[in-house]
Amino acid sequence: MPSILHVNASPNRADSHSLQAGKLLAARLAQAGSPALIERDLSLLPLHAINREFVEASLMREDTRSHAQGQALALSEQLIAELEACDCLILSTPMHNFTVPAALKVWLDLVMRPGRTFRGGPDGKQGLLNNRPVFVIVASGGPMQSKPDWQPDFLTPYLRCALATMGLNDVSILQLESLKRGDKALLAAAQATEQWVERQSRRYHDTAAAYRATA
Ligand SMILES: Cc1cc2nc3c(=O)[nH]c(=O)nc-3n(C[C@H](O)[C@H](O)[C@H](O)COP(=O)(O)O)c2cc1C
Repeated sequence: MPSILHVNASPNRADSHSLQAGKLLAARLAQAGSPALIERDLSLLPLHAINREFVEASLMREDTRSHAQGQALALSEQLIAELEACDCLILSTPMHNFTVPAALKVWLDLVMRPGRTFRGGPDGKQGLLNNRPVFVIVASGGPMQSKPDWQPDFLTPYLRCALATMGLNDVSILQLESLKRGDKALLAAAQATEQWVERQSRRYHDTAAAYRATA
């Protein structure tokens, strides 16, 4: 059955702008023909920075790993399997200190594995995942584009590069900014969310079947 994977990197809940926008999009995509939803809330996982055991195991051939080395990769395998199985990926994320939250960085460290989701070569890294739509919602308390106090964005270029490394090139991003700057910004964000969700769910409806046919 076609499925949506919704990965949430916000530690907030009902008051999270990126999570709620992701949920709205998931509900609309379900109407567009992908009824199964897998929600992966990164704040509920025992995530920690990757360790020596993980690095060693990830560089070994699968058939030479010990049981313990296989265990070191168990969570990584589970998260990669979720990625491989989904028809589209929704990523809800706040900006933390100008870039992705630590939990999302760990998720990327776990799913970006040489020989598994990308391969190195003379022309650089090549993605091993089938391409599919990725929808990213980024929430930031301060402004990203408006002057005079705009801030540098080390989040979206990095995320695009990381996803493309695994072969995920069809990435649409909604940036909700200035969310700590009062009601006017909140209203603008709500309107932008509604319009973006409407546009993306229409596009998904038109393209999902084509992606499935080439998978
Ligand atoms: C640890 C931390 C770091 C943050 N760093 C930034 C930042 O660099 N730039 C910014 O605009 N907002 C920053 N914020 C504010 C959040 O991006 C903002 O509250 C956002 O709405 C949270 O996402 P959510 O609403 O989806 O939960 C930070 C918040 C926290 C808790």
